[in-house]
Amino acid sequence: MLKINIATTQDLEIVNQIIEASNNDPGGCHKFPLFDESSIEKTDTYVNFIARDRNQGAGCFTLRRERGIASLDMICVHPKSRNQNKHIGEKILRYAIKYTRECMKLKRIELLVQNDNVNAIGLFKKAGFETFDTPNTDKGFSMGMAI
Ligand SMILES: CC(C)(COP(=O)(O)OP(=O)(O)OC[C@H]1O[C@@H](n2cnc3c(N)ncnc32)[C@H](O)[C@@H]1OP(=O)(O)O)[C@@H](O)C(=O)NCCC(=O)NCCS
Repeated sequence: MLKINIATTQDLEIVNQIIEASNNDPGGCHKFPLFDESSIEKTDTYVNFIARDRNQGAGCFTLRRERGIASLDMICVHPKSRNQNKHIGEKILRYAIKYTRECMKLKRIELLVQNDNVNAIGLFKKAGFETFDTPNTDKGFSMGMAI
């Protein structure tokens, strides 16, 4: 059973463990910065989430309020929890969309993805995200959806 909560300083270690495992995964192509005590706590502009699967850290993500839309940053599933027919990435993404609509009261969600990140691009397309920017070899490209 997947449980998703807003992350606090008490979750700092487990969130950073997920990010470190993802950064060290040989198959991964996206590296994320770690959190510290000041950046993990919710603010007026962003909120971090931790997902646990049977009490083990399974994933994390950040939602940021920007120019009247939500920006989804750092969606990350622990390498051990990926591609196991558990669809944790998909569940986390659905939760992020619901939170954006119901709690942040925003009607659009956007993100930036690297050109070679096939897993993430597959995940976002399946959820209904569409490309709306010209592909850029350095930064990747933007995807978004109305919600
Ligand atoms: C991207 C990521 C979050 C996906 O998590 P996941 O739990 O493995 O994804 P799911 O199992 O829920 O997969 C959902 C869908 O994503 C797509 N997908 C996932 N892995 C894929 C792969 N290897 N190739 C193609 N599509 C893939 C598929 O459409 C899949 O649906 P399907 O299984 O019905 O075909 C995970 O790979 C990850 O954490 N990657 C490293 C961090 C990262 O790159 N984050 C994105 C930054 S923009």
